[in-house]
Amino acid sequence: MDSVVQAADFDFKTWQATRLAEVEDCLSRWVSADAPAGLGESMRYAVLDGGKRLRPLLVLAAADAVQGLRDAALRAACAAELIHAYSLVHDDMPCMDNDVLRRGKPTVHVRFGEAEALLAGDALQALAFEFLTPDEGVPPAMQATLCRLLARAAGAEGMAGGQAIDLASVGKALTEDQLSRMHRLKTGALLQACVMMGAACADTTPAARKALLEYGAIIGLAFQVVDDILDVVADSQTLGKTAGKDAASDKPTYVSLLGLERAQQLAEELRAKAHAALAQSGLADTRALTALADALVRRSH
Ligand code: IPE
Ligand code: IPE
Ligand code: MG
Ligand code: MG
Ligand code: MG
Repeated sequence: MDSVVQAADFDFKTWQATRLAEVEDCLSRWVSADAPAGLGESMRYAVLDGGKRLRPLLVLAAADAVQGLRDAALRAACAAELIHAYSLVHDDMPCMDNDVLRRGKPTVHVRFGEAEALLAGDALQALAFEFLTPDEGVPPAMQATLCRLLARAAGAEGMAGGQAIDLASVGKALTEDQLSRMHRLKTGALLQACVMMGAACADTTPAARKALLEYGAIIGLAFQVVDDILDVVADSQTLGKTAGKDAASDKPTYVSLLGLERAQQLAEELRAKAHAALAQSGLADTRALTALADALVRRSH
């Protein structure tokens, strides 16, 4: 991911590289190749070797801001990435977006078959919740909070619900309110949950929780606005997925609704609002969260 604006005394690149190494190590160790009948191979294919890992980084940045329990944060970071990876596997299937390229590789159903892709997604979703419920190291009440946050963001009031709206909206002209609701659910809910899972790794003040909730909502929407923009302005090689798919599939997007320039302005406005929300948090160190808001809006892929 591009690192863009950084606080003068904060080395975002080093912070990011350290955290990414931890996440990759855990995912590689915990997503086992041993599942029956090749399922482990397709699960590892879906999760490893690719992806910006933005969701884990958000969990870890929020946990840093509240000085949260490290083991809990790392588990939540990896769990969020598993839910995301599962959502991508299913999103690409012929019954949904019918995409053949993801993270620069053939999609899971192209490589392994449709039934295998369906099952890999199912198993990754279940594994996410297993990650969140270890025998020791994370207090039970914290485990329950993390599970609830992630389950809610993945379900009917979050990603799955948003995906349902997305599929039902093909060929339709949505209002800005309808489009923003779709984006908040299908993409925003999980990103916001990442921030709140990080926050749940420690006791936080109501003011901090409120500010982080607001920050999460803003960057969640901004992220999908930028995804819509990149679908238009970037090429498939840079994206690692097929560019131009939204228009080709007649999907309502922020670009189709507002035009490219206004969509770009909106993303920048949301970036500034995200900074403002953090400034209300009362937290001592929000530098990683600030840098992530910049990076996710000003990314090139
Ligand atoms: C793509 O997400 C799917 C959306 C939710 C828009 P990312 O752009 O975070 O995909 P990866 O994880 O980097 O591949
Ligand atoms: C997908 O949105 C959001 C998910 C829940 C996976 P998109 O369909 O726009 O994601 P891409 O563009 O295929 O990555
Ligand atoms: Mg989709
Ligand atoms: Mg898609
Ligand atoms: Mg997209």
